[in-house]
Amino acid sequence: MRVLLIGSGGREHALALGLAADPSVEFLAAAPGNPGVAQVAELHEITATDPAAVAALAVELAADLVVVGPEAPLVAGVADAVRAKGIACFGPSAAAAQLEGSKAFAKDVMAAAGVPTARSYACTSPDEAGRALDELGAPYVVKNDGLAAGKGVVVTDDRAAAEQHAADCGTVVIEEYLSGPEVSLFVVTDGTAAVPLMPAQDFKRLADGDAGPNTGGMGAYAPLDWAPDDLVDRVLTETVEPTLAEMRRRGTPFSGLLYVGLALTPDGPKVIEFNARFGDPETQVVLALLESPLGSLLNAAATGTLAQLPPLRWREGAAITVVVASQNYPATPRTGDVIDGAEVPGVIHAGTARRADGALVSAGGRVLSVTATGSDLAAARAAAYALVDGVRLDGAQFRTDIALGAVEGRIKL
Ligand code: AMP
Ligand code: GLY
Repeated sequence: MRVLLIGSGGREHALALGLAADPSVEFLAAAPGNPGVAQVAELHEITATDPAAVAALAVELAADLVVVGPEAPLVAGVADAVRAKGIACFGPSAAAAQLEGSKAFAKDVMAAAGVPTARSYACTSPDEAGRALDELGAPYVVKNDGLAAGKGVVVTDDRAAAEQHAADCGTVVIEEYLSGPEVSLFVVTDGTAAVPLMPAQDFKRLADGDAGPNTGGMGAYAPLDWAPDDLVDRVLTETVEPTLAEMRRRGTPFSGLLYVGLALTPDGPKVIEFNARFGDPETQVVLALLESPLGSLLNAAATGTLAQLPPLRWREGAAITVVVASQNYPATPRTGDVIDGAEVPGVIHAGTARRADGALVSAGGRVLSVTATGSDLAAARAAAYALVDGVRLDGAQFRTDIALGAVEGRIKL
């Protein structure tokens, strides 16, 4: 199978490693990729959000399968353009990607499908926003309606800050605050059949102890030993199956990766958000533990044959990833700093670039996802932080407490 992977972040490096390790993948290209991806794939310089350019490249490379990593190309219609050329694509259509592209759309689908989620109001004026904030009370949760790379959400007790975010965004969803530990559940689907991957936990805040601003994600680990045994089955029944059915009913079936972001509240798991693609950096840990061939799994979803796939196999033990971010991330990340010690196994490249003189330099906010496995979470944690110690990047920021609460048994349902 000839595969073209679209995207250039840590998630794509992890996907590229998984695809390259699958014996059924005989050729792997990526666009635009990054220096980590370049070690296992042939890179092509195109704009990932340009549907015609991606489709033309897929034809030129005689790809059998295109795997779209990030949300922006999906929302732009890249999967539609690829499928229009008769090439299988892992990733939803533009219409189905609205599950991530518009918070208001996602809430509408959830309401129609009876999915457990926070009560919410879509607001387009300061007056409407004010009434919703009054009604739902603090802590206030105000979400930009459109794509915001994980940074469009403000959760605050400060009424003025909540009103300001609503005013800055224009169209927002204001919702009830959900308490309880968060879980990311990835579900591979062909629109009808649904194959859950291993649940993982992400760390959204910049600093230790969940302090600081929201980010795209500063680290992750799996498995979640503290999660209820029936979690995955319950979310499949209460959330995933009704959502997939509602999307089929609307004539816009969702295929690809349905990312269910959950809060395990006292009333059970409730949806915080849907995404239309693999999460970053959770993918780095989930794929580190997946033993089944990745290319075959994604191809089955893309070709509507998921029901025939054998059950997934998982490795024993645990995995953790620690994100190394650049100075000033998430506000205005500094780029162009030289990175040393990053060209070793386990160091996944996210925002990196190759300078003309061959040096590896930072090229984005989240620069590396330093990933390790171990016989248990404590061992995986020690291994990942040992790898972090070997990385040199001026101004680097990383959390020192990824998976620490789980190792110490401090996560309470
Ligand atoms: P989102 O972009 O919707 O995933 O939101 C980013 C982060 O904001 C989530 O991972 C949560 O930590 C937090 N958040 C979003 N919605 C809620 C909510 N309704 N209640 C509590 N926290 C939330
Ligand atoms: N790690 C959160 C996300 O990918 O949206």
